[in-house]
Amino acid sequence: MSDIEHLVEQATAEFSGISDAAALEQAKARYLGKSGSVTELLKGLGKLDPEERKSTGAAINSAKDRIEQALNARRDALRHAALEMQLKAEALDITLPGRGMSTGGLHPVTRTLERIEALFRSIGFDVADGPEIEDDFHNFTALNTPENHPARSMHDTFYLENAPGLLLRTHTSPIQVRYMETHKPPIRIIAPGRVYRVDSDATHSPMFHQVEGLWIDEDVSFADLKGVFTDFLRNFFEKPDLRTRFRPSFFPFTEPSAEIDMSCVFCNGNGCRVCSHTGWLEIAGSGMVHPNVLKAVGIDSEKYIGFAFGMGPDRLTMLRYGVNDLRLFFEGDLRFLSQFR
Ligand code: PHE
Repeated sequence: MSDIEHLVEQATAEFSGISDAAALEQAKARYLGKSGSVTELLKGLGKLDPEERKSTGAAINSAKDRIEQALNARRDALRHAALEMQLKAEALDITLPGRGMSTGGLHPVTRTLERIEALFRSIGFDVADGPEIEDDFHNFTALNTPENHPARSMHDTFYLENAPGLLLRTHTSPIQVRYMETHKPPIRIIAPGRVYRVDSDATHSPMFHQVEGLWIDEDVSFADLKGVFTDFLRNFFEKPDLRTRFRPSFFPFTEPSAEIDMSCVFCNGNGCRVCSHTGWLEIAGSGMVHPNVLKAVGIDSEKYIGFAFGMGPDRLTMLRYGVNDLRLFFEGDLRFLSQFR
């Protein structure tokens, strides 16, 4: 066999033994590169006489073609094998059942707030808002709460460090003040929001919610308070025979003031563990807005009068859904929360 034919056999054998693309390109260079064996043969053609140059040249070119063919065949084979491997590695089993999309849901307290807002909107109340970081004036002073009132003591109130006079609001009543500063009567609002007090056990959380109510006009009476609030509770709990009672109480910003109790929604007022066998559940503070509060916001207290109440929607939520630990609402445990979806 001639040297040339031998070279073709050698190259073909070498290529087919290579299974790595980079190594194949190196092998190619050894035959077809600038100083590869085939190239060297071509360079030697010049030394031959014309007759020989013609036939040898043709033989070398044919060999070169066949080596290139062998090379390309091997390149294709390697590329094909690589693709096969990749496809195998990335195989998708489209027959697996899907994991499904889990749906979110509203927090139970949010549901309660939305329900309260809808019920009060339906009787013409607006929904007002205010800052959770309050100043002394709106949280206390304007609400007729004198400097030395116990509600101001460090024990109940979170004060802000390095920000004298600022605190986390302890109730939603400052929203009343802010609203009355910027609106003229008639005023009819509820104001839901988070409030903060230094307190924590099964029925108290340092952060909890309140919904404030306020109705100021020329002829709003305590009877309106009783009617509006009792009607609200009956609708909220879907219990048309629910009863309320108003117990004399004290708030600096209302006069007279009353604690509102409702007949226990679990035993209909007959007495059970939830109501400590009294038949009643304490549900809100309320009263006729104190003239000093109206004066503090520049409303004519001779002409205007009204009522205010503040209730705890967290407690309403516990009662509506039968939850016995307030802290469950704020721990973010999905096992608890997903029951309300
Ligand atoms: N702000 C009072 C509290 O947090 C509740 C209240 C509001 C009482 C409005 C009377 C009128 O305890």
